[in-house]
Amino acid sequence: VKDAKETEKLAKDADSKMIVRRAQRDDIQATAEVHKAGFPRQTYSNEWIECVFHSFPKSQLFVADLAGKIVGMIFWTEKSGFRKEAFVELEQLAVHPDYQGKGIGKALILQSLAPVAEQIAKRGAKLANILVNTRVDNHAQEIYKQTLGVKPVATISGLFSADEVFLMAKDVDIAKLLAQGTQTALPPTNL
Ligand SMILES: CC(C)(COP(=O)(O)OP(=O)(O)OC[C@H]1O[C@@H](n2cnc3c(N)ncnc32)[C@H](O)[C@@H]1OP(=O)(O)O)[C@@H](O)C(=O)NCCC(=O)NCCS
Repeated sequence: VKDAKETEKLAKDADSKMIVRRAQRDDIQATAEVHKAGFPRQTYSNEWIECVFHSFPKSQLFVADLAGKIVGMIFWTEKSGFRKEAFVELEQLAVHPDYQGKGIGKALILQSLAPVAEQIAKRGAKLANILVNTRVDNHAQEIYKQTLGVKPVATISGLFSADEVFLMAKDVDIAKLLAQGTQTALPPTNL
């Protein structure tokens, strides 16, 4: 149960601007805390996020920054080498439990997609294919379908903690996806 002061603080935070930006070295610890809160079965979040941060540009890590407080994180990882038609996996997405259900998860996906595609374009390649997986019972599956146009292609029974569904979109039109996102799902500036 949150006390009055905490509730007041959350309400104040909710009036603040939220931005999605690339993680900086100084953000690793706070990002790891969000990771830990989002994935309680996983361990060594700090080391994990440190590895992700340092594997740029193979992985690209972004945070949701709410008036200086990191409340969410997402990272994308290129699969199977730096291909001309890049195959990009949305590897992990988490929003701190206190801030879930406010559109931050969707904003993280849609607002990081453009810089991910731009980074890939810098080497003359194209973000062409998207892959993502999650537990079959995780509502994240719906978020992925809505924001990325991915469709279920396979389920692996008992992979991690339960059955895991893999969703994929091939030959994606990133410009279209981004335009769609801007029109529909983006609440990111004022929460
Ligand atoms: C998945 C997660 C990142 C979503 O973040 P979020 O900020 O709460 O998501 P949003 O507020 O952007 O919600 C997006 C949609 O999901 C729905 N949603 C959010 N929380 C939900 C819940 N607990 N149950 C069902 N639907 C939910 C919202 O209603 C919204 O749908 P709408 O746009 O049609 O209204 C967050 O729940 C989380 O961190 N979970 C733990 C980690 C995890 O499971 N990550 C994904 C697997 S890698």
